[in-house]
Amino acid sequence: MMAKKKGPPKKKAAPARHRPVKTAPQEPPKEMLMVYIMGKAHRVPADATIMGAIEYAGYQIKRGAGCREGFCGACATVYRLPGDYKIYTGLACTTLVQEGMWLSQLPVIPAQKPVYDIEKLEPNVTAFQVLYPEIFRCVACNTCTKACPQSLEVMDYIQAAIRGDIEKVMDLSFDCLSCGLCAIRCPAEIVHYNVGILARRLYGRYLAPKSPELEKRLQEIKEKKFDKEYKEMMGMKRDELKKRYYARDTE
Ligand code: SF4
Ligand code: SF4
Ligand code: FES
Repeated sequence: MMAKKKGPPKKKAAPARHRPVKTAPQEPPKEMLMVYIMGKAHRVPADATIMGAIEYAGYQIKRGAGCREGFCGACATVYRLPGDYKIYTGLACTTLVQEGMWLSQLPVIPAQKPVYDIEKLEPNVTAFQVLYPEIFRCVACNTCTKACPQSLEVMDYIQAAIRGDIEKVMDLSFDCLSCGLCAIRCPAEIVHYNVGILARRLYGRYLAPKSPELEKRLQEIKEKKFDKEYKEMMGMKRDELKKRYYARDTE
């Protein structure tokens, strides 16, 4: 009689709570660096933007963030670097952190804006003389240009305003985000972006070439040509609207 050959002792399955948990392969630890946020030191990932670093450090940004893509100008930031006397400026959402950065956020730049009726202004230098006389105190130091995160020729558009060259101001200030960083650095206390806005309004109202297509479409709107379709669209469900949108004719 042969005894039944015993196989090797079987391993008992570990109770579920003792089974090793499968984990995803560990990412190598991120390179970190030190920045100072509101005067307090924080270690943050070296590849973070200033905005990302602030949030990584545990702060919730309630003012001073909008588009997060460098378009809205809400996240103006000033900073200094170790061993460097200069004040630097940037947008928190697009500027990367650097070792030892001392950061200050400027969600609002104090600036008064005159109220005016564009219909009562003339498209020449008098509009700037009346509304922004401080531009004539510009000392041509170019500090505003150096502060601009959009790399605009800010001093040049102020100089163009002084000459009453509205088209030039409009052109040079077109990509302004109204972040206000130029205004906080200007020794003549000029609020550049408001000067740019005035020029663009004057240009649009008085100097831009008229578009016959636009005039025609405005007339059609006045005559309620599209009211029926507009009403129909207002009653549509989201999916129907999407379908209509993608099926539209584009030139
Ligand atoms: S011109 Fe001034 S307000 Fe405009 S984007 Fe440049 S720094 Fe900001
Ligand atoms: S910072 Fe002010 S004073 Fe200096 S160039 Fe610009 S507008 Fe002129
Ligand atoms: S959040 Fe809009 S420009 Fe930075």
